[in-house]
Amino acid sequence: MRDKIILKAPWELEILRRSNRLVAETLRELTRMVRPGVSTLELDRFAETYLRERGARPAFKGYRDYPFTLCASVNEAVVHGFPSTRLLREGDILSLDMGAVVDGYYGDAAVTLPVGRISGEAERLLRVTRECLERSVGAAQPGGRLADISQAVQGHAEANGFSVVRVFVGHGIGKALHEAPQIPNFVDAGQGRGPVLKAGMVLAIEPMVNAGGPDVRVLGDKWTAVTADGALSAHFEHTVAITEHGSEVLTLLDG
Ligand code: MF3
Ligand code: CO
Repeated sequence: MRDKIILKAPWELEILRRSNRLVAETLRELTRMVRPGVSTLELDRFAETYLRERGARPAFKGYRDYPFTLCASVNEAVVHGFPSTRLLREGDILSLDMGAVVDGYYGDAAVTLPVGRISGEAERLLRVTRECLERSVGAAQPGGRLADISQAVQGHAEANGFSVVRVFVGHGIGKALHEAPQIPNFVDAGQGRGPVLKAGMVLAIEPMVNAGGPDVRVLGDKWTAVTADGALSAHFEHTVAITEHGSEVLTLLDG
């Protein structure tokens, strides 16, 4: 993705606020439904209906033939897990990733949720990965550089003994799900600090953090990415607009 970064006009930001708010609302509803005994396919059905009833459509379904509204990645699954009839169990961690299209503009966000009571190590992984997202959103400032975001994620994950996934990255977002720039969760020596962040950029920042090593492999379904060593993985994502004054998180609900 060497293309130009597309700056959004204020009227486009208005639409992006709506699509991203809807994603956040849907994830909030899903969060309330997650507990032992629920299947991720039920969550997928709910999410698709919820979006369509509000005049939106799922962003992932049909994207490169991805078959579902949600990515539902359990335990060692990193991202792109297929919703299934398997019932969630106490102690699982579940990453839910979801996109929506409203009036031609995309929203995208993800959370990792505990299913009932989870281990102390799993708790810590969720907390640190959420903090990686908060820190990287805070680092997304006009006049800064893209690598400020990457460094915020990698620094915090590795300081806590975890590793960041290399093969999947965050991205610009707008009239397409994936626009320039790619947003790695690590800094590459020799890659430079990346483009300057400017008001009008809209970025999907998505730390993927593994409790073990950084390597992943993809299952026979051609989508589900799991950790190579079988350790747990967590994923949080916000879509963020760079404004003159700082970063505005579009996938947060106030109150
Ligand atoms: N949040 C992920 C991304 O933006 C999810 C993509 S899943 C896909 O890359 F099905 F759309 F590929
Ligand atoms: Co994304």
